[in-house]
Amino acid sequence: DKKPNPGVPERNNQKNMHYFAFKRNTLYCENTRIKKLAEGFGTPLYVYSERTIREHYNKIKKAFKEVKPLICYSVKANSNLSILKIIKSLGGGLDIVSGGELYRAKAVKCRPEKIVYASVGKSEAEIKDALKYGILMFNVESAAELERINSACIKMKKKAKVSLRFNPDVEPGTHTYITTGKKETKFGLDEGSLKKIFLESKRYKSIVLCGIHIHIGSQITTSHPFLKALKKVSGIVKYLRTKNIAIDYLNIGGGLGIVYGEEKPQTAADFAKKVLPLIKPLSLKLIIEPGRFIVGNAGVLVAKVLYIKDTKSKRFIIVDAAMNDLIRPSLYDAYHTIVGVDKVKGPPGRSSDIVGPVCESGDFLGKDRPLKVKEGDYIAVLGAGAYGFSMSSNYNSRPRPAEVLVKNNKTTLVRKRENYKDLIEKEV
Ligand code: LLP
Repeated sequence: DKKPNPGVPERNNQKNMHYFAFKRNTLYCENTRIKKLAEGFGTPLYVYSERTIREHYNKIKKAFKEVKPLICYSVKANSNLSILKIIKSLGGGLDIVSGGELYRAKAVKCRPEKIVYASVGKSEAEIKDALKYGILMFNVESAAELERINSACIKMKKKAKVSLRFNPDVEPGTHTYITTGKKETKFGLDEGSLKKIFLESKRYKSIVLCGIHIHIGSQITTSHPFLKALKKVSGIVKYLRTKNIAIDYLNIGGGLGIVYGEEKPQTAADFAKKVLPLIKPLSLKLIIEPGRFIVGNAGVLVAKVLYIKDTKSKRFIIVDAAMNDLIRPSLYDAYHTIVGVDKVKGPPGRSSDIVGPVCESGDFLGKDRPLKVKEGDYIAVLGAGAYGFSMSSNYNSRPRPAEVLVKNNKTTLVRKRENYKDLIEKEV
């Protein structure tokens, strides 16, 4: 299973970076046949490879080993508790953005001093919960939010560590919806506002301003935007030092891109080699928040072909997974490689759109693909480990899929398939 596999793009330009591969013309996850999982657990089904998750995490750890960063996995990418437990077992911390994610972090007993909390809109209840648990720090995005945290601290007689999120106004070269470091986005503070807060930090008696945070976007495939942002950060840190303001942490966020199709993203090692010369001279504790890089290529969404519908203009392959299960193609026009779980010999099939049963024309998983399948076959949408299940919904009253975790030839059901009762359970 270590050979590159035609039809399954090699992940992150590195050998053996994922463990979804064809053996004897059928797709495996590690040493487990995907078809067997589809038959056993039903479809649609999310299948994750534990080994891939571990290897991706370790790639980052190794790339940055000289500065020993705190790697806070971004929970929103895939928040299944079993995945959080894997991260924990590897020594990682968590990047959270809500009370719900804090609840998940507590459920896996993640140590509080390994949790960082971002988001432009933390409610008072969420802030208090995080203070109570004693998280490492908040990443704060406005003066108003800082004020709110400060007053929560006073009420609770606690102090909070805070990094300010800087909006460096750089173009990350990714989809607009996942661009977060440009000035017209809601994220972070511009340089002037950020410096002003640092200079007036005495106003916030219960806050320890201890760092700077950036996160400029997601699925970024080159180091340029990171370097541009880091140069600005470096200037700010130096400026603060001239004002006798010392900070301890630099959090460079997540955003590392992966292979979905033809991308040639930087590897973790390349990335580290480029950014470390800017980071090291600052002598700050480094925090990284990768999400997609760790889990993106560690998951596939398996679906069953319900019907083939030929029209004059094209063929539609109608499957039992839809935009409610994986919204990335509909929402960002994102490309995911789609393969038949069993390889079929002969010339490629008619160019087809792979679509789900949801009543929207935007409900598609892939467009114009030469996929050769017939009714009853299984397909796998690759690269579905990040922002797949975590963005799923019950739209069209569709119960959400089951999730399984594969470790070599062992499979664990890590989330049961929802049923119709679940759909109406909360309604009164
Ligand atoms: N840190 C912060 C503050 C973030 O907002 C995010 C992601 C991350 C870290 C992790 O980014 P990553 O390493 O996964 O790129 N739903 C979109 C992606 C949204 C990303 C949101 N923030 C998608 O499916 O492409």
